Amino acid sequence: MTKPDLAKRPDDVSSMFDRVSRGYDLTNDVLSLGVTPYWRMRARRAIDPHPGQQVLDVACGTGTVTRILADHGSTVTGLDFSHGMIEEAIKRHGDHPNITFQQGDATQLPFDDNTFDVTTVSFGIRNVQEPKRALAEMLRVTKPGGKILVCEFSHPTNGLVNFGYDTYMNVLMPGIVKLVSSDPEAYDYLFNTIQAWPEQATFASWLREVGYEQVAHRNLTYGIVALHRGTKPAA
Ligand SMILES: C[S@@+](CC[C@H](N)C(=O)[O-])C[C@H]1O[C@@H](n2cnc3c(N)ncnc32)[C@H](O)[C@@H]1O
Repeated sequence: MTKPDLAKRPDDVSSMFDRVSRGYDLTNDVLSLGVTPYWRMRARRAIDPHPGQQVLDVACGTGTVTRILADHGSTVTGLDFSHGMIEEAIKRHGDHPNITFQQGDATQLPFDDNTFDVTTVSFGIRNVQEPKRALAEMLRVTKPGGKILVCEFSHPTNGLVNFGYDTYMNVLMPGIVKLVSSDPEAYDYLFNTIQAWPEQATFASWLREVGYEQVAHRNLTYGIVALHRGTKPAA
């Protein structure tokens, strides 16, 4: 096992998330200066969870989004390839009647075709070594007419915000990470993957390429995060 880098070797990525699983949510909330719950609320509204809706939360981590959707009535499967993350998710939310957690790989989803009304992934697709393959898998397991919703770091569209964000990431964040994280190297990886991630228009083109229709996105916090959506063509 080596330190994860932009090659995103699955063993390196999953063992890094194993190591940070316990403190993951707190570190996230601190590093995002408390904005993460707002991004999650916007993702939840876009998904519109309700009773009778079957949702797959890919790369669910500690199950925070899984839980929010289940609390709004959806029946949710949370899937992640990190043993540590899934263990933490089960510890926190495993007794919820609408939730099932499963360890598995986003690029080889262990579900039948046309199973879910909605598939979603929050801050996960950026960590997948073959993101288009994961998007194609999400399409496969979505019912015809069903939706995908991707919440991911993106690129600010305003020059001033971009300058402030870059300064925060390069100058302030490394110091905060040293204070709050048990594994500061994990956050070098976070920073590098965010910088290397494609812009909104490119990611939207990947969704179209794998077969989604009605592809659109909405920038949150000036594009620091983007919410992407698409629809699986009706049969
Ligand atoms: C930044 S965390 C996001 C967790 C959660 N979705 C959230 O919003 O807090 C990224 C997650 O992606 C998972 N992941 C990365 N590649 C994966 C893959 N190929 N299959 C399944 N999970 C993966 C990691 O284990 C990690 O839990």
